Amino acid sequence: MSLLLATGTAVVVSTSAQAATTLGASAAERGGRFFGTAVAAGKLSDSAYTTILNREFNQVTPENEMKIDATEPNQNQFSYGNADRIVQHARSRGMQVRGHTLAWHSQQPGWMQSMSGTALRNAMLNHVTQVATHFRGQVTWWDVVNEAFADGSSGARRDSNLQRTGNDWIEAAFRAARAADPGAKLCYNDYNTDNWTDAKTQAVYRMVQDFKNRGVPIDCVGLQSHFTGGSNYPSNYRTTLSSFAALGVDVHITELDIRNAPSDAYRNVTNDCLAVPRCTGITVWGIRDSDSWRSGESPLLFNSSGGKKAAYDAVLAALNSGTPNPTTAPPTTTPGTPPPTTTPPPGGSCTASVTPGTVWGDRYNTSVTVSGASTWSVVVAITSPQRVSTTWSGSFSWDSSGSVMTVRSNGSGNTFGFTTMMNGNSSARPQIRSCSTG
Ligand code: G3I
Repeated sequence: MSLLLATGTAVVVSTSAQAATTLGASAAERGGRFFGTAVAAGKLSDSAYTTILNREFNQVTPENEMKIDATEPNQNQFSYGNADRIVQHARSRGMQVRGHTLAWHSQQPGWMQSMSGTALRNAMLNHVTQVATHFRGQVTWWDVVNEAFADGSSGARRDSNLQRTGNDWIEAAFRAARAADPGAKLCYNDYNTDNWTDAKTQAVYRMVQDFKNRGVPIDCVGLQSHFTGGSNYPSNYRTTLSSFAALGVDVHITELDIRNAPSDAYRNVTNDCLAVPRCTGITVWGIRDSDSWRSGESPLLFNSSGGKKAAYDAVLAALNSGTPNPTTAPPTTTPGTPPPTTTPPPGGSCTASVTPGTVWGDRYNTSVTVSGASTWSVVVAITSPQRVSTTWSGSFSWDSSGSVMTVRSNGSGNTFGFTTMMNGNSSARPQIRSCSTG
């Protein structure tokens, strides 16, 4: 602390900071949001693909590699190679990972497809537990359950072998996931849940509301948002986002793609997310059109040669026009000053040690290890216009300036970490302000 006080220097905040030039960097500047993509392990050796991935995105979702048929091809024999490769690629570059998906009627391995009743329920719960445990501390969000509601006007659950084990299968999956990885945010993910008046949207809303009322652990809702064209982007989309958010969950757009990639629809989706504070990120379902599960519709932001499409420009412009984190007087630091390695706590009860991590052109990692307490709260100040874009292994909250974060222990151990976007200031480093117990 004495370092902070002794070296305090006024830092001028520019109100005309340069616009971010990538999707992830710009999203990070808007309240620490993410802009991500689905990633296929088989493409990580394609340098044209990874160049765009590494440059543009700060979040990834494995497209198929964490699904049940991939991770448990034979009962109780788990296979994580491809998923681990994606996780390693992402985390070593400061990108957050969304796990997709623990329980789903589709892409079940043959052994699971032929099961029913109690045996299937137990196998599903074992799968959730094993996979969430394997990725504990590495996955920020899990799509715990995917696509459990029927299309059309019924508002009913989708019929499936999992549904036939009993209506409580979804909450059982969420409880098992929470027990296995208490630090992960647990999401329900579905498609055709974009139009607020659709029966399916209303049915998912009622389930989330019921879970919140009864204390079933749920933290977030994913709207896949596979739009078949501009007409399929509903004008009440923002109402859908804000209505879910009002239940006390984060909302994510998890699999965005739009037939023929009309700029207007992409812009509207982006603006709708930015307008809802708890819409904390957007994931597109693939990078180039040639990577898309419906490549014939050219629905993505990059063409098959890796070039930026008009929709890309529209999304980036919308992000850059969004209200950034409000800036107030920044913490007083001297750029270039190395971070303090230890901080005397106000109560004298714990110590936070900073370990600088990897530095890239636009961002850098920091990890902090707490000693002297098992439940703790650490306050860290970032120098504006730097912004934290990615966090792990702690429970993070920010003050209204967006520059001071409080990190609480969340059962993931005593080391937490985060990625900071430099946003033009490459020298400042985070400052520990305090470490307190409890
Ligand atoms: O890897 C095999 C390959 O060895 C084989 O030669 C080939 C022949 O069909 O199949 C390949 O596997 C395919 C796999 O994608 C990888 O490309 C599967 O057949 C194919 O079914 C699978 O499709 C995936 C689909 O989910 C399956 O349901 C798509 O890639 C994936 O984008 C899509 O993603 C889903 C989300 O998980 C949930 N929401 C909808 C979304 C789009 O359908």
